[in-house]
Order: sequence, then structure tokens, then C-alpha cells
Amino acid sequence: MTDRIITVIGDEILDSRGYPTMRVKVRLKSGIAAYASVPSGASTGEGEAHELRDGDMRRYGGRGVLKAIANLAEIERAVRGHDPTKQGEIDRLLIEADGTETKSRLGANAIVGTSMAIARAAAQVRRQPLYAYLGGSSPYRMPVPMMNVVNGGRHAANALDFQEFMIVPHGAPSFREALRWGAETYHALRALLLEKGFSAGVGDEGGFAPNLESNEAACSLIVEAIELAGYRPGAQIAIALDPAASSFWRDGSYELSRSGAGNMSSSALAALYAGWMKRFPIVSIEDGFSEHDWSAFQAQTADLGRTVQIVGDDLYVTNTKLIERGVATKATNAALIKLNQIGTVTETIAAIAACRAAGWNFIISHRSGETDDAFIADFAVAMNAGQIKAGAPCRTERLAKYNRLLEIEREVAGQSFYNSPFASSVDAAASATEASGPGPADHEVVAVIEEAITAHRCLTVAQRAARRVNALSLSALHISVDPAKLVASAEEIDSQQLRELREGTAQERLEQTRRAFEAWVDSSSTQVRWLEHVGDIGSSLLPEVQNAALIVLARPHSPDAGDALHAALFDTGRLVLFAPTDGALPVTLGEHMVIAWKARTQARKAIMRTLPWLRVATRVTIVAVDEADGAHDCAEVLGLLQERGISADVRHVQTERGQHIADRLLAEAEAVGGDSIVMGAYRFGQLFEWVFGGVTYEVLSRTRLPVFMMH
Ligand code: PGA
Ligand code: ZN
Repeated sequence: MTDRIITVIGDEILDSRGYPTMRVKVRLKSGIAAYASVPSGASTGEGEAHELRDGDMRRYGGRGVLKAIANLAEIERAVRGHDPTKQGEIDRLLIEADGTETKSRLGANAIVGTSMAIARAAAQVRRQPLYAYLGGSSPYRMPVPMMNVVNGGRHAANALDFQEFMIVPHGAPSFREALRWGAETYHALRALLLEKGFSAGVGDEGGFAPNLESNEAACSLIVEAIELAGYRPGAQIAIALDPAASSFWRDGSYELSRSGAGNMSSSALAALYAGWMKRFPIVSIEDGFSEHDWSAFQAQTADLGRTVQIVGDDLYVTNTKLIERGVATKATNAALIKLNQIGTVTETIAAIAACRAAGWNFIISHRSGETDDAFIADFAVAMNAGQIKAGAPCRTERLAKYNRLLEIEREVAGQSFYNSPFASSVDAAASATEASGPGPADHEVVAVIEEAITAHRCLTVAQRAARRVNALSLSALHISVDPAKLVASAEEIDSQQLRELREGTAQERLEQTRRAFEAWVDSSSTQVRWLEHVGDIGSSLLPEVQNAALIVLARPHSPDAGDALHAALFDTGRLVLFAPTDGALPVTLGEHMVIAWKARTQARKAIMRTLPWLRVATRVTIVAVDEADGAHDCAEVLGLLQERGISADVRHVQTERGQHIADRLLAEAEAVGGDSIVMGAYRFGQLFEWVFGGVTYEVLSRTRLPVFMMH
């Protein structure tokens, strides 16, 4: 039964700095209740969604939030009676009720608190933990913590201009160990500071706030602390910086007045960072320049972007449009993600989708003013972010997030992994766009056969895909061990021969059926591996497809959170080819490929990932549906293809009133005689629907063409 939102109320509470913020509480018809507390920044980007404060100087110096609390009554009227599990719809209602670009009327604090509380309530409706509800199924990626151990800038009253000096235990084997390594290093740092006569008092995010003689001294001390704690700087624990340079930018130059380093131009500051990169094990730098200094970011990314993660925070304020501008202008190669910068869960996920589409890293982040709410811990896991920024291992509002991650890691034991997003992925992000095809390890097409009725189609599609690209071999993985199902699927291949198989023990029938399968696929020298799929997918199936150039599988019954197999395979990040499960299969595959896209960035990725097939296709058609900026975007995509010796036709089409984009797209694909579709997607689960307006979902469920799809 569908649950309904009944009330939205709130309290004015205090945050970790003792300033007012709000806690929003949502109650459902069933009696389910959930809350969310809203954080607040100090070094805010100018483009952030508007945090509504009372401005009544008689209370909290004007920082009270009673007006925002009062606005919850209007918010309640907007969402009352709605299904809490329809997050996309709820967030749209909230945005519409507010009616302003920056959520300034009702207050972004009131809106984001409501949006988050409703997500929590919906997770309860579904009886799922928040990370599973928002993120779909396993495997879960545990985030690498970026722990801010030295605080400066607006987060401390000391002599450091740069706001954050973080340690990143990316070489740890698990989140639990990473947290221990980080805490031990933090304690070593404390001992060092005291030994050298500095204060060990802490700043807003729990990092020490000593009056060091220079910004650089913070880096040296951290390296010393890492060694003192018994870890290898760089390989095991690296450094990340967030200078938050907007906060010391005045009239076109950088005023390093706290440390006494004087005024610096963009290029002088860039040179300072570049020098540090050579001397310290720095893997990430965020807001190295002012949010108005885009060209400085571009130059830094061109210079260092291949080896260092360059992050925009104030620069993008979790705004999809700004992130897309950053992608188009190559301003950075990563973005910081803060729910309250944009104001709803759905818009935050859209910003993440833009990062993913561009092959960027992204980091889920707290604010300097925090509460005990650990929403971002679940969110980081749900989004497969790989990184979380939640402060030092000190002060309970920071530990609330890390401690929640410990709990999650235990809950998902055996279905999670902890990987460094650096080294390999920074390199990969830089070179991914130039990858020209499967590498030496990626020579295999793996058909994953789950069910009897789809086995034949799935293998047919896989065989064709492997044959088109010469270097590819084909393996079939049959993951069902149910003899009855396997016999039924083998019957599709050769019903005559298999009739006899109905006799004998289960084990005998299984053996014989497997031989029949092998004989059938043998004609294309396919190797069939029989996987006795037991237990969780993460440990038995995923290792088998880890290096596949392409994973072929039958399209999902429902691209829904419940489909663990599809979600897990899709989330490996390998290229997936979905075989349609009904209708006549086209007689060819990859002769005429149709590239369908929503955003330019997605097309880029889709093209790069399917190059081996696009290169041998006889025809390539790009179908743009309802693209306002279509001509410009298409020119870019065409250029991209041309550089690789591929020519393509472009079709610009518009939906008719009430027509779904997917329908228009498929009609066009049919009309031009396409035999396969190429499109990017985000991931499975509900988000699949929210983020792309259901286009990928609808295409997958309606088409009779095989669809190449990737993250
Ligand atoms: P803020 O700072 O929460 O004070 O804005 C955090 C950051 O700059 O990343
Ligand atoms: Zn920042």
C-alpha cells in the first residue's frame, strides 16, 4: 500500500558552531517518522542556494531560522498526501512551491531538510537502510575519507590562509582501517604540534588550528605525522588541500595576509601549488582559485590534471549547469557535492550524474557547520562516490559520519569494496576519453545467461558483438544451476536432441544440457564457463567479468532497485549490451548504430566506450530529441567521430505533445533502420528514473534493438 506524507514540521536547533539551523521532521500516514538536520557553510560559494535567516538582530545576531521553520507549513501543503517514495516528484513540488532560482522564498534550508527527511522516510517505507534505498543493490563502494586535520582560513582564527589540509588514507584495505590510519596520524600530529610548542586546539572541522609560520609548514608537519604514525606518505596516506581561495581573493589577486605571504597573482599562486605537488604527496586540490577565476582553473587542469584530482566546490556549488560548464571548458576534473548547496536530493543526484557522464570524480561533503545527522555517509555509499569529506576524526558531528560508515561497512560485509580513487583513476580520468578500444586485458565478451528463456537471444547477440570486433573472444557464463531451467533453454537451441534429456537424474541432465550448449556455441569457438552461482553476486560473479570488454545480458525485467544482478553488473563500469527479450531480433548487429543522447557529455562517453564497434559499423546515425542546443552539440560530437575516422548522419527530432522522448527516439531508430542503440546511463535503481526522466528506462523496456549502455 502506498504511504502518504502527512506532516512536515521543524525545530530551530544549534549547529556545531552554536549557530541556529533546522531539523525537519516528516511524518507519514502509516506513522513512520523521519528527520533530517541541515548543515551550514562558512566559506560559501556565491551561487549557493539561499539559506534563509531571520535577520532579526535581537536573536542570534540575525542568524535565527524561525522564518524558514514557519515556511514548513507551506511546504507541508505542497507535499501533503504525496507518496514519499517518489523523490523526483516530491523535489519538483518543492522547487515549484518555492518558485525562485535560488530557493530564496521558502529557504533552501527548509527545502533541503524536507527533501532529505522524506528520502529517509521513504527508505523506512521500503524497509531498507538509506544507502540501499538511494543506491540500489550491491556491490557497495566504501568511500575514502578526506580528513581535515589542519584547519585555517574561515574555519579557524589562526595564521593559515588555506582553509583545509587533509589526510587521505587511500591505501588502506577497508574503510575501517582507513579510519584507524587517519586517527592514528591525527594523534601523531597532535604530539608533534605539542612537542614543537604549538597549540593543539581545534578549528571548526576538528582539525588542529595552530599558528604555524607558513601554509607550507602544515604540509611538512602532516608528512612528518604520517611517518611518525608508521605509514608511508603518498602510497598509504596522501594529502589533499582545500585552500578555498574565494575567501582570500580581493580585486583580482590573492591576499595571503594571515600568513604574511603577501599578495599573489593567479599564476604565482598556481606556481606555488605546482611546486608543492613536487615536494609533498598531494593527490587532490580543491578551490585552489577563486570561483571567478575560471581561467586559472583551466590552466591548472591542463598542467596538473593528469596526475592530480582538481576539485571545484565554490566554483560549481553542486549546480549541474556550472558542472557542465566546467566539463565543457575543462576547468577541473572533479567536483565537490553538498546537498545544501543546491537544495534537493534529486538535483544533487543530477549534479553527480553530470560528473559521472564526464568521467569525473566527485566527493560527497559535509559543511563546516554540522549536526549529528549522518545522511551524507549513506549518501556517499549510495552514490558510489568513492570519497567523502567529513572533517577530522574529532568532534562528534564529524565522527557521526565516519561512525555511520563503520556500521554500513559491517552491514554490507562481503558485498563492498574500498578502492583508491587516485593513481589509477586520476590517470584513467585523464586518458579515458582517449582510450581507443579494449586494452590487452579487455579482449573478452562475456555473455551472462541468467534465464532459460533468454539464453538463446542473449548468446546470439553476444556472438554477433564478438564477431564484429576481431580481437574479441566470447565466453558465456551460465549462472543458473537449476537443471530444469537449463534444459528448457537448451531446447531452444535443439529441441530434437534435447527431448531425450528429460530422462535421468538432475545431475545427468545438467551435464548433458551443458554439452548441448557447448556444441551449439562451439561453432564460433565460444568458450562456455559454467558458474555455479552461489551466495552473493559480489564474490562469485563479479570477478568473472572484471576485465570484460563487453558484458552481454538480457535486458532487466524491471530496471528497478530490486534487480541485484543487473545493477551489480552495470555498476562494474564495464560496457554492457542489453539483449531485447521479445520481438523479432534484428538480423544484424552493429551494421547501423544509432547514438542516442540527452547531454553532449553523455554522447562523448558513449562514443569513446563503443569505438571498436563504431569503427566497423557501416552506418552511424546520431538522434537528438528535443535538444535545444542541438546544432552546436551535434557539431562537437560529429567532430569527435570524424577525428576517429567515423562519419555519421544527424537527425534532429522533436517529440509531439504528450509523447515520451523514448518513443520518439525509438521511432526514429526504426525509421532509419538502425540495428543497435548506443546510450549512456547513470545506474540502476530508482535513480535511473529520476535522473534521466526515465528515458533510459523506457528505451530499455520498449525497444527490440540491442542497447549498448554504460555509466
Ligand atoms: P564550508 O567549507 O562548509 O564552510 O563552506 C567547506 C569547504 O569549503 O569545502
Ligand atoms: Zn571547499
